[in-house]
Amino acid sequence: MLVENSVSLQPLNTFGIQAKALRLVRVRSTADVQALCRLHPEACRQSPLVLGGGSNLVLTGDVKQLVIKVEITGRRLVAETPSHWLVEAGAGEGWHGFVDWTLAQHWPGLENLALIPGTVGASPVQNIGAYGVELQDRFHSLDAVDLHTGEAFTLDAAQCGFGYRDSVFKHVASDQRHLGLAGRALITHVRFALPKPWVPDISYLELARKAEEWGTVPAPRQVFDWVCAIRRAKLPDPAVLGNAGSFFKNPTVSAEQCADIIGRDPKVVHYPLPDGTIKLAAGWLIDACGWKGKAMGNAAVYDKQALVLVNRGGAASPATGGEVMTLAKAIQTSVYERFGLRLEMEPVVV
Ligand code: EPU
Repeated sequence: MLVENSVSLQPLNTFGIQAKALRLVRVRSTADVQALCRLHPEACRQSPLVLGGGSNLVLTGDVKQLVIKVEITGRRLVAETPSHWLVEAGAGEGWHGFVDWTLAQHWPGLENLALIPGTVGASPVQNIGAYGVELQDRFHSLDAVDLHTGEAFTLDAAQCGFGYRDSVFKHVASDQRHLGLAGRALITHVRFALPKPWVPDISYLELARKAEEWGTVPAPRQVFDWVCAIRRAKLPDPAVLGNAGSFFKNPTVSAEQCADIIGRDPKVVHYPLPDGTIKLAAGWLIDACGWKGKAMGNAAVYDKQALVLVNRGGAASPATGGEVMTLAKAIQTSVYERFGLRLEMEPVVV
């Protein structure tokens, strides 16, 4: 297994931020990961940076800890039962290509999650979600390697502790959570249970509108095409304009807090949740503070979706991680001053 020194991470993060990995190793199998743990036990214990597609990452400088680039591929049908297709993919498979492939095999269920950047292995980490579906709705189980011991293990959905853009992989063991695996688990394979019979999920307003115009029950590929069109209209393509998707989570407030905000800003976009709390659209809050299109250096707020920060300097003079963080903090301050809400960042900052 080859350990490369001083590797540019610019092509390996979708923001396109310039930074170097002092040491980077590529793993292509579970056995590779276990060998790495045996050969470099110290580096594996010191919270290495596990890199998938680099689509949820802000690099604020060169990365001193070991960077492990996951390149485990492979996809297969594990089983078909009367109620599910059970499909598995290697962690290094590109997410969108995997979704596309499942549809081509006539195993629908992931179409609402089309075009999300990143890899299969990263998908459970932040429980990716879009257009009415979250990864946890289709997740079956995953295999991982404990980087501290080299042991392989399997987790089911309950053990992954999924929440909104959250899982056990985002928390360290000292958090008050059952199990914290941040910096410790390297996901090698993920399995998805795709329910039969397939039923379209068109609960997201724009999908519902498209379905109404369509007139009949859409096919899975049709929903996929709609989702791709909606995403392309709203969100920047990282290959064209560097970004890390939504930069902040949508905050949740109590009914009283929400009523207070509505009293001052009647147009605030809000969604009641089953537990009585209310989710607010962070993009709307940031937009209302006048941030759309504003920039700090080469880091800017996307002009069509205020929840997305972009690198407007391209590859030649990219935004620095510092600029991105300065902009993010200024946005947090301004939303706090106007609405009394602290926006939580979504990407991992290294
Ligand atoms: N809005 C504004 N101004 C803006 C942005 C949004 O007024 O600048 C309003 C919109 O008009 C809409 C509401 O805010 O009424 C919500 O916007 P949208 O439907 O685009 O969704 P979102 O809450 O901003 C979330 C996810 C996205 C996901 C979409 C669709 C988070 C943090 N983001 O965005 O996920 O694609 O819903 O389901 O939950 C990602 O995580 O990277 C991501 C793109």
